[in-house]
Amino acid sequence: TATACGSGDSSGSDDGTITMGFSQVGAESGWRTANTESIQQAAEEAGVELQFSDAQQKQENQIRAIRSYIQQDVDVIAFSPVVETGWDAVLLEVQRADIPVILTDRSIDSADDSLYETFLGSDFVEEGRKAGQWLVDNAEGEVNVVELQGTTGAAPAIDRKEGFEEAIAGSPGIEVIATQTGDFTRSGGKEVMEAFLRSHDDIDVVYAHNDDMGLGAIEAIRAAGLEPGEDIQIITVDAVEAGMEALAAGEINFIVECNPLLGDQLMELAEQVVAGEEVPKRVVVEETTFTQEEAEAALPDRQY
Ligand code: AHR
Repeated sequence: TATACGSGDSSGSDDGTITMGFSQVGAESGWRTANTESIQQAAEEAGVELQFSDAQQKQENQIRAIRSYIQQDVDVIAFSPVVETGWDAVLLEVQRADIPVILTDRSIDSADDSLYETFLGSDFVEEGRKAGQWLVDNAEGEVNVVELQGTTGAAPAIDRKEGFEEAIAGSPGIEVIATQTGDFTRSGGKEVMEAFLRSHDDIDVVYAHNDDMGLGAIEAIRAAGLEPGEDIQIITVDAVEAGMEALAAGEINFIVECNPLLGDQLMELAEQVVAGEEVPKRVVVEETTFTQEEAEAALPDRQY
């Protein structure tokens, strides 16, 4: 556990209202849209005044937003870092201004963990492991995999790659024959998959770091005259509605869940750190996985 550095004196405005500056990655995926809605709705319900900005997947925009939150003297800054590195300087400025920081969804790569109070988000390495383990359990003979990576330098791209590689390491028949970033977008996934299909005629499996890229890959596979889910199997991460529908329809074969509904937990943590209370340094989000049958059963109750 860690003690909040936003000590008692910064606990909200005179009327007790907490102001949060939140810098979102962008609107690159269905997951991100659900995450933004969750945060905005939770802030409203908790009576937290939210200053929200969309960085359009650019670190410089996030740094600019964070500096403007320091200027505004908000009570707490939360953000989902687009990439892992390059945050120390701006977070030192936040620390000097005595504003507590909460990392949401994605973490940073820094030797100084006093730069933030807590990190609320998924275990991306574990997500990658689950994806790889499913393949290990279901692979027959030689299997050629192409990988659609998330945004270069982003924690979920780095960690989902690592976890997957770890899981397949003991299976020499499974080989990743090509890997490239599709930037977590549907159009990126489609473009990269088109290129993979042009240069390889022996692709058995697509491992996409999120549903959106997997959905883009489905379009490319269809356009090449192949059947997604059958001629080429697809494994993705997220379990947003469009992904789950494709899974239930047999176009995707397996999805590892990444839960975007972090809003309520974020607001609770914000209230605690602003009040100077101790919070755990790491809060991991609970997640599951879905086969095609499980997706069909779960779809009617999905919230995103
Ligand atoms: O950081 C979470 C990842 O970012 C989601 O898996 C992906 O869809 C999003 O863009």
